[in-house]
Amino acid sequence: MSTLRVNLAERSYDIAIGSGIAESIADYLQQWSPTSHVVLVTDETVDELHGDRLASHLTEAGLEVDVFAVPVGETSKSADLLIELWESLLDQGTDRGSVVVAVGGGVIGDLAGFVAATFTRGLRFIQVPTTLLAQVDSSVGGKVGINLTEAKNMVGAFWQPNGVLIDVDLLATLPPREFAAGMAEVIKYGVIMDAEFFEWIENNQSAIRDHDAEALAHIVEQSCRLKAQVVEADERETSGHRAILNFGHTFGHALEAATEYKSLLHGEAVAIGMVCAARLAFTLGRVDEGFCQRLEKLLAAFDLPTKIPLDIDRDAVLKLMWHDKKVADNRLVFVLPTQLGHVELVSNVDDNAVDDKAIVASLG
Ligand code: NAD
Ligand code: GLY
Repeated sequence: MSTLRVNLAERSYDIAIGSGIAESIADYLQQWSPTSHVVLVTDETVDELHGDRLASHLTEAGLEVDVFAVPVGETSKSADLLIELWESLLDQGTDRGSVVVAVGGGVIGDLAGFVAATFTRGLRFIQVPTTLLAQVDSSVGGKVGINLTEAKNMVGAFWQPNGVLIDVDLLATLPPREFAAGMAEVIKYGVIMDAEFFEWIENNQSAIRDHDAEALAHIVEQSCRLKAQVVEADERETSGHRAILNFGHTFGHALEAATEYKSLLHGEAVAIGMVCAARLAFTLGRVDEGFCQRLEKLLAAFDLPTKIPLDIDRDAVLKLMWHDKKVADNRLVFVLPTQLGHVELVSNVDDNAVDDKAIVASLG
């Protein structure tokens, strides 16, 4: 078991990482956010697999627990569901002493976190992430929110949790495709910040694929450590530094939008997006061919896609990129590598380079 600290002055918190530790949820809760009333938000799948059991541990510890199991999937990050949750919380007598506990993937963390940020102007909040993506990315850093019909993550807040309880055993029930999608974000940290970590993943592929508890705890811990460093340096994304976490996301978001968020998981779109960004960096003379091939090989080793599927219209992807939130002064800001373990924000990319056949057409 290991504990990392996210240092954000009075918003600082611990991330506990280990195998089997979710079963001690009641102890963590009383240590991080003592309360007598818990609002546990989960989705219907996770509720059956884990949420129900964790709620029982809390009840057995003498806490009053109200469970809200919402439908599975991205559509639950909606204003309609948010209003429903607010009203249910009111009916259940939730007050500022209550604590919101999110048990689920990124959808649940984002939704429950936004409920916590807004109900009675702010409730304490604990994250218990159950997907790899949520364990290495969305549960840390305090970005919470919901979608508008036409725009993902458009309404939200920065609301840091009071603790993050990461139990890698919860990943045992995760479908392989969801696990792979989380690996895209893990590999991302190696590329943007830590060449040694990238190499460690290369050398320990089978242990990770076999869900060896120590290997899983290592990749989760190192990912959280790296994310925490970025969040500590730029909590509210004001200096631009936090944007390095968006490596692969400019192309990735456009790919997700082009497929109407239906055929590609977020991590899969990010995997392809990272290859596109690497190819763009190559076209601009920033990295060599070997860099691109090494990245593609590692992504493929975890069954992640590395090419834009043939049925996706490349022009539509390029057009959608211009609608990305990161367009600054009408120029796209790309996060581009210079070497393994280092990226830079680049805003003066020639449109022709982005459009270049070398990046887009060669990927099909
Ligand atoms: P998700 O929450 O929809 O979970 C994916 C699927 O896995 C769901 O069907 C869920 O029911 C299932 N699942 C979850 N845990 C399981 C388990 N242990 N066993 C079996 N099935 C399980 O999706 P996600 O990929 O975790 O998160 C995606 C969301 O995260 C998006 O909404 C994205 O915008 C958000 N996100 C937020 C941040 C942030 O910083 N806040 C960062 C990245 C992504
Ligand atoms: N997932 C990007 C961020 O937390 O800033």
